[in-house]
Amino acid sequence: MMRIGILTGGGDAPGLNAAIRAAARRAFQRGFQVTGIKNGWAGCLNAGDFESLTPASVRGILPLGGTILGTSRTNPMKEKDGVQQVISLLRGNGIDGLVAIGGDDTLSVAAAMSDAGYLVVGVPKTIDNDLSATEFCIGFDTAVGVVVEALDRLHTTASAHHRVMVVEVMGRDTGWVAMIGGLAGGADMIIIPEFPVSLDQVVEHLHRRRGEGKDFSIIVIAEGAKMQALEPAMAIAAGSDKRDAFGHVQLAKQGVGDALSTRIEDATGFETRVTVLGHLQRGGSPSPVDRIWATRLGVAATDLLAEHRGGFIPIRHNGEIKVVPLRAVIEEQRKVPKDLYQLANVFA
Ligand code: F6P
Repeated sequence: MMRIGILTGGGDAPGLNAAIRAAARRAFQRGFQVTGIKNGWAGCLNAGDFESLTPASVRGILPLGGTILGTSRTNPMKEKDGVQQVISLLRGNGIDGLVAIGGDDTLSVAAAMSDAGYLVVGVPKTIDNDLSATEFCIGFDTAVGVVVEALDRLHTTASAHHRVMVVEVMGRDTGWVAMIGGLAGGADMIIIPEFPVSLDQVVEHLHRRRGEGKDFSIIVIAEGAKMQALEPAMAIAAGSDKRDAFGHVQLAKQGVGDALSTRIEDATGFETRVTVLGHLQRGGSPSPVDRIWATRLGVAATDLLAEHRGGFIPIRHNGEIKVVPLRAVIEEQRKVPKDLYQLANVFA
């Protein structure tokens, strides 16, 4: 009888539990045993941290945010022979194959394990929505929902006080949450890493709106957006240069939204406020879209293990499930395309 492991790695995202439940339920249906690996790759280093999963352990978790397995940004590739250590520990605990649910960092470890001969498959997850090849990543839809609700609320208070509202959202290297959330929430300016703008352009935009009699403004900015005029303020933010095991700085600490709102006020005299949505975008119950696709992909991942098709990942392509090599989703980041970005100009 086969025993599979399930692991969630990297930042949590709404829908992880739906994927765990789906992968596990399919495994039980096939007569497999299931081990939950705790706290991402941290759970398969040193002595390991495993928990046997039963149908009861995955009952009632479909609507829950977070992950019952815990997660971490631990990177085994930073340890000496880390990938081999992970594989030996899994094999030593009778785990024949692994479902790794994660974004590019987690899946890059999975790809290395597959290269080393271990049976491992992936499930795409990141609220940043920037894995290549797939149209869907667990958590993005829910995160966008949080942004849209926030923008609806900020509109009424912005209009009452005739203010500029700067809203900082997540998005490390790409601006998907800002772009889709901003479009759906009616932002008049969306600033993302893919298409840098200058402070002068922002100021010009705000003056033009005032000139047209629009006495408030909603600017959405992705935390990873770069603007030269903001760099001095961002460089002095406490802890802004700290990096995790995959080499990422904590962008929220750099405070791009805060720096932008200060510079807008200085340059225009318009009253400006900043809202940083932060981890609100990652918490809480998953949307129906996240639940359904996490479910479909979780089931598909277990099926791949059952067929001994290691090194692959199920994704969404043209609205259907498609299976591609793990490397295909991590080879590059999917960027917001220009035509989508330009759509926002209609509503400036
Ligand atoms: O990668 C997902 C993400 O939410 C990014 O958008 C963000 O920059 C980062 O994780 C925040 O990470 P942490 O939860 O470790 O602060």
